[in-house]
Amino acid sequence: MLNMRIGRAKSVNGEIKLPGDKSVSHRAAMIAAMAVGKTTIGNFAASADCSSTLACLENLGVEIQRDADVVIINGVGKSGFLQPANRLDCGNSGTTMRLLSGILAGQNFDSVMIGDESLRSRPMKRVIEPLGKMGAVIFSDEGKAPLTINGKQPLDAVEYQPPVASAQIKSCVLLAGLNSSGVTTVIEPVQTRDHTERMLRWFGAEVDILKNTSGTRISVSGNATLTARDLTVPADISSAAFFMAAAACLPGSDVTMSNVGLNPSRRAVYDVLNNLGADIELLDERKECNEPVASIRVRGGLRLSEGSETPVLRGHVIANLIDEIPILAIFGTQLTNGIEIRDAAELRVKESDRISAIVVNLRRMGANVIEFPDGFKIEYSNLHGSMIESFGDHRIAMAFAIAGVLADGTTEIAGAECSDISFPGFFETLERSVVTI
Ligand code: S3P
Repeated sequence: MLNMRIGRAKSVNGEIKLPGDKSVSHRAAMIAAMAVGKTTIGNFAASADCSSTLACLENLGVEIQRDADVVIINGVGKSGFLQPANRLDCGNSGTTMRLLSGILAGQNFDSVMIGDESLRSRPMKRVIEPLGKMGAVIFSDEGKAPLTINGKQPLDAVEYQPPVASAQIKSCVLLAGLNSSGVTTVIEPVQTRDHTERMLRWFGAEVDILKNTSGTRISVSGNATLTARDLTVPADISSAAFFMAAAACLPGSDVTMSNVGLNPSRRAVYDVLNNLGADIELLDERKECNEPVASIRVRGGLRLSEGSETPVLRGHVIANLIDEIPILAIFGTQLTNGIEIRDAAELRVKESDRISAIVVNLRRMGANVIEFPDGFKIEYSNLHGSMIESFGDHRIAMAFAIAGVLADGTTEIAGAECSDISFPGFFETLERSVVTI
């Protein structure tokens, strides 16, 4: 286990190189594998999770070449995968397991997906149920991995409304719908990240999106064809968020991050930081491969908040910033009126129970925190260096590394190696960009 020691910083400065977006990279690899022809993906995420996706695809007969962040996928067509010789190891990656289950359900062979201890504890009924309605037979350990998927070709088309707002469930059903006998529709009362819809369109599939007052209906057809097409993955806004928060809180900071994905279904963290007093500027806004991107510049020093009310984040915005809540909690400790986050019970079934991990670790650093079943309330706090437990969760390890930069004394993150799940090189990048006191 790797322990990292972090000291207080004066500021963070310079150009920060971020990894490619994890969500977009998973989809690029899987959908390119379902397409006909060869796709070159640039800036593919250097994340362990995305390597799990590539390894599973190779195990399914997909030829892949990788040279640093360039990945070339030789697509096999929507139903052209081969029965894997081994169990498909999804590692720590919920996205790999849930999205791939949609693809495997529509193949004419059986396969088994496994994962690490954290992934084996996460809920999979949410994909087993819709795929069962579509005619696949899935065996699990009471709704948890390992999953054995008996595929069916073609699957039955369905109309499905997920019980929780989840882009992973939506994507699983849409990918299964590509191998169904009709039109498959997902109904979303609350919008979740729409990278799958954008990526399917990039590869030439028709995706019908109908918005009305009760939500969004997203439909794909079993007749859709996918054709190889090169693309470049934007930098990951979820990784950018750590440096955005650090720079905003430390006066004298000035950081820039280029080509960051600013998809409207992912960019709430930018709006929230801005509204809560951060000095953030977007430069060179444009679209690349169907995804909005821009450079982000953050200068240090928070604008003082007006009034004495604690800002509350709840409702529909939560799905848009679900992965950024750990770092928003740290940011909240630096706000005069603190922060309250509710309607976020999903955090309890992420790579760790993130609500509990945030509360336990923040209390160790001397913060005043109230825990709720679906969130927490944090007061303005002077953080003190402490021993922090990552709980094997990459976003907890990185959020508390930023807390360490803001705290007095020394903070030690136990189990810091898990940052490789989404951001290999995070600690080196942080060390290079901080100016110490
Ligand atoms: C992801 C969706 C989110 C997010 C996860 C990645 C995706 O999960 O937390 O890190 O790539 O679709 P849910 O859709 O289950 O909320």
